[in-house]
Amino acid sequence: MFTRPRLRRLKPVFAAVALLVAAGPLPLRAQRPAVEAERGVVVSAHHLASEAGLEMLRRGGNAVDAAVATGLALTVVYPIAGNIGGGGFMLVHLADGRDLVIDYRESAPAAATRDMYVDAKGEVMSGPGSSTVGWRASAVPGSVAGFALALEKYGSGKLTWADVCEPSRRLAAEGHVVTQGSAAQLRGSAKLLGQFAESQRVYLNGGAYWKTGDIWKQPDLAATFARLQKHGPREFYEGETARLIADAMAKNGGLLTLADLKAYKVAERTPLRGKYRGYDIVTMPPPSSGGIALLQMFAMLEPFDLAQTGPTSAAKYHLLAEVMRRAFRDRAEYLADPDFSPVPVAALLEPTYLKRRMADYSPVQATPSDKVVPGLGAYAPAKPRDGADARFFNRESRETTHFSVVDAAGNAVANTYTLNGNFGSGVTIPGTGILMNNEMDDFTAKVGVKNMFGLLQGEANAIQPGKRPLSSMTPTLVFKDGKLLLVTGSPGGPTIINTVLQVVLNIVDHGMPVAQAVEAPRVHHQWMPDSLSFERYGISADTLAILQSRGHTVRERQSYEGGYQGDAGTIYVDPKTNLRHGAADPRKPDSRALGY
Ligand code: GLY
Repeated sequence: MFTRPRLRRLKPVFAAVALLVAAGPLPLRAQRPAVEAERGVVVSAHHLASEAGLEMLRRGGNAVDAAVATGLALTVVYPIAGNIGGGGFMLVHLADGRDLVIDYRESAPAAATRDMYVDAKGEVMSGPGSSTVGWRASAVPGSVAGFALALEKYGSGKLTWADVCEPSRRLAAEGHVVTQGSAAQLRGSAKLLGQFAESQRVYLNGGAYWKTGDIWKQPDLAATFARLQKHGPREFYEGETARLIADAMAKNGGLLTLADLKAYKVAERTPLRGKYRGYDIVTMPPPSSGGIALLQMFAMLEPFDLAQTGPTSAAKYHLLAEVMRRAFRDRAEYLADPDFSPVPVAALLEPTYLKRRMADYSPVQATPSDKVVPGLGAYAPAKPRDGADARFFNRESRETTHFSVVDAAGNAVANTYTLNGNFGSGVTIPGTGILMNNEMDDFTAKVGVKNMFGLLQGEANAIQPGKRPLSSMTPTLVFKDGKLLLVTGSPGGPTIINTVLQVVLNIVDHGMPVAQAVEAPRVHHQWMPDSLSFERYGISADTLAILQSRGHTVRERQSYEGGYQGDAGTIYVDPKTNLRHGAADPRKPDSRALGY
């Protein structure tokens, strides 16, 4: 019964309900809401790196300042992929309307040769000395140069290079608490890291392993950041750090020299632009394959009513597999570093071409991948060598990391960068704390032989001195009516492109709130091997049966592949309220969105 005192107690509840009714329906919410902020948001794979970025925003810095601080801090707290020994791509939107790309992808050393990973028997090498493990696997790192250029040209001007390096130096010098995620990642790569004495000492705690809750101090890395602060970013390429890298490489049979470091150049590029259902997509051009493949898939999907198929139906997954295999077929054939191999960008994105590309699409039957030919005609045929196992998947796991930033003024950064594999080549340069990349594996070691991602690549991506290896990294921005709506990207080798695709489809076609769009299950097809992978618990038995009945080989992602697909830290800017919604991806244990 509603007694008078009880009614009095319920008064605030009635008032709140009345207010809600007056205000109209509540905005759609995911089970786990995104982080809402009025001014700025940083989303990264580690909360301490997100904090480093947020610290810059609070000090009056812009999204570029925050992105650089976040990227540098990930080197310390997320060494599986965060780096100064690797490279990547930064896609920047400036509040004045400009969009631009900073390409700080690694480049092949001068001594690199086309067949450097093929042995006397004509076999692609494995183990130390190969393109994946050890001293010969590294290309020239671009991260420091890329971050420095970003800060100098597009930073707020209020924060210096020393300022943006300071959170990293501090975290390395004072130590940070090892999370359960970091402890597991480090231990999980003990076999790789343990092959190199310095990596064993620094990253495996001399064999005792770093454990959850340990305070991990990294004095060598702190000293490296202090040198960078004191002498500026060129120190990495010409100073004591460069000398340490070059000397260690020379001693251990690596290719990289002081001259390579000195010669490294960042490239500024024009982003690719496309449309999908009235949304403007701004994304990564070559030497990433990501933007072209993404825009091709959007164009192939446009005629279909995805909203009607629903987000997880067999009909949708069938369609996705078909557009993915066609885009990845073109990727293998035509894409490479445009400064070395001409990439037919306009032809690959031509609307009539993409319409024609789906001419043989059947809604009820899978197209076998070996029947999918490169759409523009043969360019440099990539035929599997005799006996090549199309189902082969290297058991190396694969990492990269993505972070997204939006500031109060509306500047935004989508940055994806990498050491390539988990902890890169496994090599730490003695005395520096710097883990080196194994990005040489992103080149075609031998036409017709898969790389560590199971990707078949073509002649266009063959190794040449100074060339950048083909990438899949796809930092992407989405605009609606000229206003920034979405900042997204992901790690995951070739799965990156398909992860970004599905995050955008979840928002545009399925109307999901951003946290749900990031959390929703994902699928992946990359032409070869001819299989559609799904995430653990990510597909129903009847959906699977329908896909199989249509001729698809469907498989669950395995533990060595991480079980799950990607880490799509995404920011959604609400067009009505202008609030920034940061969604960290629950697939990565330490990912965090922080706003203010
Ligand atoms: N290293 C992975 C990529 O660039 O796609």
